[in-house]
Amino acid sequence: PKIFVVTPTHARPVQKAELTRLKNVFLHIPALHWIIVEDANGKSELVTNFLKTSSIPHTHLFKQTPVQWKINQKDPRWIKPRGVLQRNEGISWLRENISPTEKGVVYFADDDNTYSIELFKEMRYTQKISVWPVGFVGGIMVEKPLLDEKGRVRGFNANWRPDRKFPLDMASFAVNLGLLVRSTDAFFSHRSQRGFLETDFLEKLATRDDLEPKADSCTKVFVWHTQTSDPDLNREQKLKVQGKRSNLGMEV
Ligand code: UGA
Ligand code: MN
Repeated sequence: PKIFVVTPTHARPVQKAELTRLKNVFLHIPALHWIIVEDANGKSELVTNFLKTSSIPHTHLFKQTPVQWKINQKDPRWIKPRGVLQRNEGISWLRENISPTEKGVVYFADDDNTYSIELFKEMRYTQKISVWPVGFVGGIMVEKPLLDEKGRVRGFNANWRPDRKFPLDMASFAVNLGLLVRSTDAFFSHRSQRGFLETDFLEKLATRDDLEPKADSCTKVFVWHTQTSDPDLNREQKLKVQGKRSNLGMEV
């Protein structure tokens, strides 16, 4: 089965560094197709050049988040969901372009997390929904499914709103390709209540009994919800005021 990775991405100083960190992992994974969806009104030169030299099979898409759904600079990042329309664009592309006989799995990989090579071995054979632990989610070291003695998911150790049907982060699950393609009402929604993006989506696809625990019965962490901090660019701001830049004619 092929692994289809859908990555929403948006322009900012660290964008190329983030995408490079992902690329360096994806290059180790056989039969991986990377769907990069830019939050922009067109394909940027930076991402186009990046993909051209990446030697990873890919599809380059874009979909701009309308201003009313964008987060203001001074607001906390969790106030509005991110990457929603971009992931949906990737899902639509799969529904329109993948042959019904293609076997695979779909993973929504944000551009700022840290992924290990092992994670992709875990997800490749997914009947419906695979799940595993994620480091640094919801204010705790690890958020993970809890298993019963038969090895089935009986709950979650989630700290934030554990009453959600699927208290899971985007990084903690992968969906069978056929299931996703056939479930034409499964999309992410800006109308989801804050923090309910993942659970609302998964509820369209599966029940708790359908979850397939991976990563050694959810005892191993192969992905971390790292959130890169913005680099200190205070000198650059001063240069800009003087009409100068350290990176004139240079892609960083
Ligand atoms: C958490 C989850 O890990 C995300 O999967 C989920 O989308 C998000 O919460 C949410 O509630 O919406 P967090 O680290 O806070 O994630 O989100 P970001 O990493 O800031 O954004 C998720 C993805 O959307 C990233 O790949 C990012 O590049 C992209 N994004 C962000 C855009 O495409 N446009 C934006 O304006 C901002
Ligand atoms: Mn993130």
